[in-house]
Amino acid sequence: MKLSRRQALYAGAALGALYASGCASTGRSDSEYPEHADEAARERSRFWRAHDRELIAQLELAPNANLLDAGCGSGDHALLLAERAPLGRVTALDLSEAAIAALRARIASTRFERRVTPQVGDITALPFAAASFDAAWSSHVLHFMADPVACVRELARVVRPGGLIAVREDRALLRCLPLDVGLAAPGIEERVNSSFEAWFAEDRAQRGRVTMGWLGVLRAGGLHDVRAKSVLMELTPPFAAPQASYLRRRLARQSSDERVSTADRDALRELSTEGGPHDALARNDLHFVSVSSLYLGRV
Ligand SMILES: C[S@@+](CC[C@H](N)C(=O)[O-])C[C@H]1O[C@@H](n2cnc3c(N)ncnc32)[C@H](O)[C@@H]1O
Repeated sequence: MKLSRRQALYAGAALGALYASGCASTGRSDSEYPEHADEAARERSRFWRAHDRELIAQLELAPNANLLDAGCGSGDHALLLAERAPLGRVTALDLSEAAIAALRARIASTRFERRVTPQVGDITALPFAAASFDAAWSSHVLHFMADPVACVRELARVVRPGGLIAVREDRALLRCLPLDVGLAAPGIEERVNSSFEAWFAEDRAQRGRVTMGWLGVLRAGGLHDVRAKSVLMELTPPFAAPQASYLRRRLARQSSDERVSTADRDALRELSTEGGPHDALARNDLHFVSVSSLYLGRV
């Protein structure tokens, strides 16, 4: 049976909604989602998945869209893009051969294998003809690049006129701890975030100064209808066990961050110690808030 374009769009939208909601009525669920072999990566991917789905839903993709994930890393977003465009295709591109090999192995023999194409490539010189895609997504990549405006122009080259470019970068750092946890001086999380931001600014300057915000970068890259859209993720106790485990791992990771003072690192270690007297995940007053920002423009 051949569907008209309108019927295909409706069918695709319905499928997209089912996939996005976990696909209970089709029998599809996250249990069929290809997971990472590595435990920490699996935990991180699961923790962020619902939020990432909500973020990708902002793109309002056509169900049959042909998409590019530029700098796909682990490929989590490429898979969610494929869910959101259930009749479409996703090319997942990254400079890292290891990342692409891992993604290829992860999706082998899954429902994603035929619609997601992992490919090694460089965002600064994309190996695609002009106007190859309906939309391009690039998350947490452009801030690494010496010339983000040139990257936007390169993304715009491979997206068809009128197509969408979505750049995801952070505007605000996440919060979880109360101001005073009773260890070290009040404001541990504020200091951890500040030291990260100081490092980030220094790292950025070493790659080359970019003297404009992301909206300016997209406009300078020649895009139209440029706008920002942020999505909030919020969690309060009681946390599900995998959420608590991810948050504990995050505190433990911060406790070994050499940019943080010894006093704060000692406190973070105590906060991350399961069953210890200062176990943060045993508290009932954590409030996790994270904001992801999208910068969107049309070619
Ligand atoms: C912080 S990770 C983000 C991964 C993924 N997009 C996400 O949001 O989870 C940055 C990714 O950009 C990739 N990358 C860095 N430079 C690149 C380039 N010139 N072309 C393509 N990918 C690049 C890295 O290999 C890495 O996988």
